[in-house]
Amino acid sequence: MTSNDIIQLEQQYVLGVYSRPSFVIERGEGSTLYDTEGNAYLDCVAGIAVNALGYNDAGVNQALSEAAATGVFHVSNLYHTAPHARLAQLLCEESFADKVHYCNSGAEANEGAFKFARRYAREQGHADKNDILAFTGAFHGRTMGSLAATPRPKYQDPFAPLMPGVRFAEFNNLTDARAQMDDGVCAIIVEPVQGEGGIYPATPEFLRGLRELADEHDALLIYDEVQCGVGRTGKLWGYETIGGDVGATMTPDILTAAKPLAGGLPMGAILMTQRVADAMHKGDHGSTFAGGPLVAHVAHHVVGRIADPAFLATVRAKGVRLKEMLEEINSPHILAVRGEGLLVGVELDIEAAPIINRAYGEGLILVNAGANVLRFVPPLVITDDELAHAVQIVAKILSSS
Ligand SMILES: Cc1ncc(COP(=O)(O)O)c(C=O)c1O
Repeated sequence: MTSNDIIQLEQQYVLGVYSRPSFVIERGEGSTLYDTEGNAYLDCVAGIAVNALGYNDAGVNQALSEAAATGVFHVSNLYHTAPHARLAQLLCEESFADKVHYCNSGAEANEGAFKFARRYAREQGHADKNDILAFTGAFHGRTMGSLAATPRPKYQDPFAPLMPGVRFAEFNNLTDARAQMDDGVCAIIVEPVQGEGGIYPATPEFLRGLRELADEHDALLIYDEVQCGVGRTGKLWGYETIGGDVGATMTPDILTAAKPLAGGLPMGAILMTQRVADAMHKGDHGSTFAGGPLVAHVAHHVVGRIADPAFLATVRAKGVRLKEMLEEINSPHILAVRGEGLLVGVELDIEAAPIINRAYGEGLILVNAGANVLRFVPPLVITDDELAHAVQIVAKILSSS
């Protein structure tokens, strides 16, 4: 089949909710993808911040083979398996959490977090404490609850009514958060670094203030780290990057993770403290697939590698270098460069989409974050030379835009 045949077949049979470029990806190696015609693309998207260890990684492949060799990919959550238990132990040992609940995606993790927060409020005797406080620019997913907390009319309006009871305050504006908060709020949800909204890190004062606000109203603080978590910012958890040495004063009650967890296999996780876990009882929540032995075994390998302090230090160093190189581009189109680790945005005074389309022709894959922000979320294993090459291509395109 030629790439045209594949694209036509897809257009005939696959729901058209995405516009895709006109090449067909066939294989990958490190931070490079190859299409069916043999063209190479340096990948600064990594499956939207998923493929942290890149493509065809020997360790991930080995973990996959080990899991496959058991002949059991799935048993459901009705039964015990070792990978399920071992991964939860690792996630708890590497975080603030005491307990983990698995799911299959980022949106599902946030749905679960909302349910846990309402359950917690009920356990405290608050029958009407149902609301969620979320923020402008947030993206929490496409399901009815997570979408309700994602204030974008284009995504929300065609599907109303969504989950009721979500309030919004301005991101990084503690005064506004205080104004929207009362005892009817069971949880505050925030991305420590907003991803889809344009790569905006929260300020330490904001996260600390939200922690205090949640405590004042006996509400839970949820960090959505689906995009900024699991090493992306150069610390294992995104809020640790924001918090510096005072991270303990901004520790959440619940943290949702997904994208990179299982090296490209679908997996999400809800990390929580014991007091949240104590509010959940047998039968309260569940999933057929979540935390199966195959994904959990691979995730154990991935999280173990990423949590290595030496590995995280390389991510931080590459992030600093990437921002420096982007700041050195001499283009009037660049309004700002921001982000943490390898979650970096370049805000332009023009639309990002035409730049991204031209980058394909130069062998570079980029994605936007909002209409005019170019987003860099490459594999965490990308090399300095590859990052320099990506920046050169962007500079070249901008110089003739
Ligand atoms: C911060 C954040 N939360 C939630 C989601 C939703 O994750 P998923 O697409 O796996 O449902 C995303 C996806 O981009 C995200 O960036």
